[in-house]
Amino acid sequence: MSQIKPVTPQSLAQAADILKKGGLVAFPTETVYGLGADATSNAAVARIYAAKNRPDFNPLISHFAAAKDALAAAGIPEKPAQGERPHAAWARKLAHYFWPGPMTLILPKGKNCPVCDLATSGLDTVAVRVPAHPVARDLIILAGRPLAAPSANASGEISPTSPAHVAQSLGDKVDLILAGGACSVGLESTVIDLSGDAPLILRPGAVTAEDLAPVLEMAVASDFGVKDAAHKPRSPGQTLRHYAPSIPIRLRAVDVAEGEALLSFGSTRFMGLRSGGSADSLPETMHKSLSRTGDLHEAAANLFAMLRALDRPEHTGIAVMDVPETGLGIAINERLRRAAGLA
Ligand code: TXA
Ligand code: MG
Repeated sequence: MSQIKPVTPQSLAQAADILKKGGLVAFPTETVYGLGADATSNAAVARIYAAKNRPDFNPLISHFAAAKDALAAAGIPEKPAQGERPHAAWARKLAHYFWPGPMTLILPKGKNCPVCDLATSGLDTVAVRVPAHPVARDLIILAGRPLAAPSANASGEISPTSPAHVAQSLGDKVDLILAGGACSVGLESTVIDLSGDAPLILRPGAVTAEDLAPVLEMAVASDFGVKDAAHKPRSPGQTLRHYAPSIPIRLRAVDVAEGEALLSFGSTRFMGLRSGGSADSLPETMHKSLSRTGDLHEAAANLFAMLRALDRPEHTGIAVMDVPETGLGIAINERLRRAAGLA
């Protein structure tokens, strides 16, 4: 098994040392745990793809400690320049309002971009994010370079929101796991493509279209890469099966079938079992509540851990109650549809 260490000045220094030598460190961010490597080194980044068994046409997000460094990777200066393209102004505004935080920007790669070609899968765009988690920020600063970091799970599995999930999914393929507790957001960052004619949300997350509109002073469209043979998604990762439990997921359930586990949202007063009786009689191993009060933030933070907990061979599937398609519910439902194989 890989080493799991609590965050101390010593373990942070050890982690930075591993990264400088081209190794892999799993670290907490506010969204999910990341599998980090030196973003400037093709050799280090190659280890990420190998550890995750991830196809190398699926590019990675590079994490920076400061917005100015993230924007500089796209050749965007701190102050507006004469004759610059509109995406530079969008990026500056979004960086100001939402970084550090759960937002990733896809930008045209700058001339002096430090991110290596393998991290961007050879594309002419780069994905950049400034995480808010203090451990992530400290690690980037100590390593002295941007960190390429996908979610710290094997490709196709549910993203990890705790150090134990990372260990279960990647085992000894990672040199060190920095244990910084559970992730507060619990869903991967919102991915916004600014490389086209208009901003476009490629992956929904905690920063929503409603949050973006007043900042950009325009409505922002979404393209979550739903399966469609004629249509080429702009985010390569969105075509791949993701967040996949090993048993079937049944969405918008209004009752629970024999042998099924229940993932509930809000009150379960009216949830019945097909075999008779109420969902409240299910044992704790068969019923997890995303949020009893219907709080979407609480539900997002619980989603991946609860899907993992219910994903057991003794269950025939997981019945999931309806989650409203508003605010953070949009991102929760997108993950649930993928888990159900519907997107
Ligand atoms: O919250 C997060 O974003 C976490 C933490 C660790 O920061 N990271 C994460 O990375 O979720 P990953 O690799 O699991 O997802 C990155 C997504 C993928 O869907 C990938 O295809 C897309 O971002 N992406 C990366 N670079 C891109 C690019 N240049 N153009 C389009 N999509 C890109
Ligand atoms: Mg991932």
